[in-house]
Amino acid sequence: MSRTSDRLGRLPYYAVNELAAAKKRMLAEGVDVIDLSVGDADIPPPEVAVRTLHEALSDQAMSRYSFQIGLIEFREAVARYMERRFGVVVDPMAEVLPLIGSKNGLSHLPFAILNTGDICIIPEPGYPGYFGTYLTDAEVLPYPLRAERQFLIELEDLSADQLARTGLAFLNYPNNPTSAIAPRDYLERTVRACHEHDIVLAYDNPYCEMTFDGYVAPSVLEIPTARDVTLEFHSLSKSFCMTGWRLGWAVGSSELIAALQKVKSYVDTGPFLAVQRAGAAVLDNAEPLVAEMQREFQERRDAAVRCFREVGFEVEAPKATMYLWIELPSGVTSVDFAQRVLEEQGVAVLPGSALGSSGEGYFRIALTVGAERTREAAARIGRVLNEVRETSARA
Ligand SMILES: Cc1ncc(COP(=O)(O)O)c(C=O)c1O
Repeated sequence: MSRTSDRLGRLPYYAVNELAAAKKRMLAEGVDVIDLSVGDADIPPPEVAVRTLHEALSDQAMSRYSFQIGLIEFREAVARYMERRFGVVVDPMAEVLPLIGSKNGLSHLPFAILNTGDICIIPEPGYPGYFGTYLTDAEVLPYPLRAERQFLIELEDLSADQLARTGLAFLNYPNNPTSAIAPRDYLERTVRACHEHDIVLAYDNPYCEMTFDGYVAPSVLEIPTARDVTLEFHSLSKSFCMTGWRLGWAVGSSELIAALQKVKSYVDTGPFLAVQRAGAAVLDNAEPLVAEMQREFQERRDAAVRCFREVGFEVEAPKATMYLWIELPSGVTSVDFAQRVLEEQGVAVLPGSALGSSGEGYFRIALTVGAERTREAAARIGRVLNEVRETSARA
């Protein structure tokens, strides 16, 4: 029997699932695959996380349901971190919500906010975690991120009618996939627009610690008037190389936290308590751990930028995130390019169009491997680039 909902049909295709399957098949065939497709680096989690989790596993209380309240010590560690890192003081019980990874909160927020016919702005290209909106009766309005606009979403670009109908806007800076960052005055005018037009701002900030060359990424909650209209999403996945642990949090307006919590109460029972205890230990040691992670990723970024330039791509060194967003020569689609790179050279990259049609003409690599493997990957991708250029020169 094949009975599925119309809503299901609205969900775009999730490219990463297919890439993961292709990679598995090639590895089984003995191909030396280098996977740069997903933001999941080959770096171990912090030792303090592993040690604390181990200890927590022997505490029977950790094996109970977490529910939405979760572990108070995790909420408190989040509040301490928000204050130390951003100077933002929050109530750990009313203004923080533990999440099973930030995707857990991002994907369920639309259900808590949007009514039929409301508009939800999502960045395009953008992270597919916002696509939960397609499962609501709201209207999804993908906003194209353009290099000439510094990849920023300018709410005031929307028509008066669109602004009046917009209920929720997802913003993500430092940005996946473009690596764009948000200047302070941009955040100020965006918060102002959200107040003016009664828009909830979902500020997705999982890369705030993955920054380079002395750049320090802000929390939008640093803008004094932001809290009333904002939920900000954080994650331990990238900052602390803990993708599989599934731990993040939402922080911001107590009303919005309560609304998200209500939805989540019916779909999940919160992150594993032992993981929250480990997360608290990590956040209390965030500064040295982040410094170490930044050193490693800056080295990887430098190596990747150098190697990809050497093989003929124009690449700028991003100030943040674990991604290079690389422009392709005209005459090749990003899916064709990514497919050739995988099948002919055993390197997995993400085609730009997999993150939305405005991503066409680009591919994304993630800094998942060390300098040596990155060099090898760039050399292999460079071979496909040369062939593409030769073919288009002949045409
Ligand atoms: C922009 C963005 N937001 C959220 C996430 C999800 O992170 P988490 O592992 O916390 O669910 C990702 C993961 O790649 C991301 O790129």
